[in-house]
Amino acid sequence: MDHAAIRRAKEHFGRLLETQMRRVEAVKSSPGWIDYRTLSPLKIGVLAGDGIGPFIAAQARRVLEFLLRDEVRSGRIVIADIEGLTIENRAAHGCAIPPDVLEEIRKYPVTLKGPTTTPRQGDPWPNIESSNVAMRRELDLFANVRPVRVPRLGIDWKFFRENTEDLYALGSNGLDVDADISIDFRLITATGADRICRLAFEDARKNGRRRVTCVTKANVVKTTDGRFLESFYRVARDYPEIDADDWYIDIMTAKLIDETRRREFQVFVLPNLYGDILTDEAAQFQGGVGTAGSANIGQRYAMFEAIHGSAPRMVAEDRAAFADPSSMIRAAALLLGHIGFPRLGRDLEMALDIAGQYERKIVVTGRSTGASGQAFTDYVMDWLRNPELKDAWEACLKG
Ligand code: IPM
Ligand code: MG
Repeated sequence: MDHAAIRRAKEHFGRLLETQMRRVEAVKSSPGWIDYRTLSPLKIGVLAGDGIGPFIAAQARRVLEFLLRDEVRSGRIVIADIEGLTIENRAAHGCAIPPDVLEEIRKYPVTLKGPTTTPRQGDPWPNIESSNVAMRRELDLFANVRPVRVPRLGIDWKFFRENTEDLYALGSNGLDVDADISIDFRLITATGADRICRLAFEDARKNGRRRVTCVTKANVVKTTDGRFLESFYRVARDYPEIDADDWYIDIMTAKLIDETRRREFQVFVLPNLYGDILTDEAAQFQGGVGTAGSANIGQRYAMFEAIHGSAPRMVAEDRAAFADPSSMIRAAALLLGHIGFPRLGRDLEMALDIAGQYERKIVVTGRSTGASGQAFTDYVMDWLRNPELKDAWEACLKG
């Protein structure tokens, strides 16, 4: 037995624990939720990302500037670019977020972020950490909120994916113990599980939802998922008017395609990796990951993004201008709701529903035979300017 390898592994594990214990202490001593109304100006940073990122982020920004034109003109809101979160720059610095870029990001309580390439072993890029994961950690964006709505199918789901723990927290800190054995580390804290579960229940209560469902694999992954589930039912006690239930991830993926059962689900709360997987599946009902936006919420910062990656192949094949910007525009709608413009956010969602799911006069296919992202965005903006928007949307729902 290689005792030196075991000793090295123990030391490695010890260092990880130190970092995590420090992180949890910092979380516990957070000064609380930021109040956007007290910020003047409120600064929104745009991180274009790479791959198709700059193309679809530019469209979402255009919509945002249009809807917030009065606030931008009066100086109440500033929308500005944050440069440097590109794969080239990240690779050159050998890190997920170059320090000067992170410093800049910290000046913006709210960001709209295009997809960023996440390298993996064997890619032409150094195998650096995902900048999504790094940003979620650095800004403590503990909640990844992902709505999926398909009125036609009676689907109205909201996923609360924990965003700072699970296999992701130490995903770049695994260990090749020797030439044969590799180990990754999975971490769940009561602090982390409690705060995501509480946010899910609070949101359910605020929006009159009657049910919150937790998803784990606690029958097999007993310790970490066990703790998550324990937190879930503990928090649930404070919300007696809401039904709390739990399912295992495997059967949950099946239930989402069960037409008779899936409409019954309303709000989901789940650890990071299960949330990653299940939300891609869920988004497929709505038209695919290209149509789904997500909010990364923390007490001090919030970041809004698409739920998909940077699709470098589309760029290589010269198709980036034909990428669907819906995901980023949905993210912009979530952003509007989060910073205190819920009516604008809802208008934008209605315009997207009509353009993308019902009327479909201009359809993006991801290829040059379909519409460009710019043409589709013009179409969405025409609906935003249309005084009949709400009536038209309600008519669509009635079929
Ligand atoms: C997502 C993405 C990211 C994740 C990747 C790009 C790291 O898939 O936002 O769901 O796994 O969280
Ligand atoms: Mg994902």
